Amino acid sequence: MRLSSSSVTHFLLWLNLVITTVHFAQSNTGIEITSDRGVGNKSDLDLLWRIPPKSTALVTGGTKGIGHAIVTQLASTFGVRVLTCARKEDDLQTCLQEWKEAGYDVWGVVADVSTSEGREAVMTKLHEMIQQSDCAHVGKLDILINNVGSNRRKKTVEYTEEDFDYIFNTNLKSLYELTKLCYPYLRRDVESLQTAGPSSVIHIGSVAGGPTCIKSGTLYVRFL
Ligand SMILES: NC(=O)c1ccc[n+]([C@@H]2O[C@H](COP(=O)([O-])OP(=O)(O)OC[C@H]3O[C@@H](n4cnc5c(N)ncnc54)[C@H](OP(=O)(O)O)[C@@H]3O)[C@@H](O)[C@H]2O)c1
Repeated sequence: MRLSSSSVTHFLLWLNLVITTVHFAQSNTGIEITSDRGVGNKSDLDLLWRIPPKSTALVTGGTKGIGHAIVTQLASTFGVRVLTCARKEDDLQTCLQEWKEAGYDVWGVVADVSTSEGREAVMTKLHEMIQQSDCAHVGKLDILINNVGSNRRKKTVEYTEEDFDYIFNTNLKSLYELTKLCYPYLRRDVESLQTAGPSSVIHIGSVAGGPTCIKSGTLYVRFL
């Protein structure tokens, strides 16, 4: 699925209805959870999404669909420096070229985040990106969006162990482990909370995993 630039904006408005933003801050629990609720026009969007230019974001799976829309919106509207990843190098290079020609500050790395090697490759590139001296908050990551997710639709009794591992590693383990790896960069102490503000972690889920469960296969439902 490819989204046009106008549908990107509409998509983000829709996305705002369903996402929960987790702010990492220094508190008794260590994690403060806030939930942003729906809006319908650009001025409301401006109010909800105040992001300093050259803030940094990691968006997994940015070459297609929802991830591509998020990367484009963050980089274009908000001037965010974005790192994204995908498994297919050709697709990634094509997207990076398009973003570059549009003047957007998007970095990329070929990586499979369902594997520990892939996650390490992402972290190496992330470390390189956030050390750039013109970042809004040098050495810190401001936004992590765990977008990668996949599915195989089958009857429950037809799922193999390999299916289970693929969906588990892609939809759950990847975001759990990647968020842990990013935590040192997302974490704010009292001082950096004042200067850099809170960081945010967003996991893209699906209504297919909620109470309105649709026929997407029991493994997809289990892990979303
Ligand atoms: N589309 C929907 O209707 C829908 C609805 C509700 C929720 N969602 C959720 O929204 C998220 C995005 O869905 P989508 O439909 O936009 O996906 P999509 O169009 O299939 O795109 C997935 C993106 O992630 C990359 N990717 C997939 N597996 C990866 C991996 N293991 N490591 C690194 N990159 C990987 C893909 O590139 P490569 O193939 O090159 O790796 C691609 O850039 C998913 O979490 C999905 O569950 C989707």
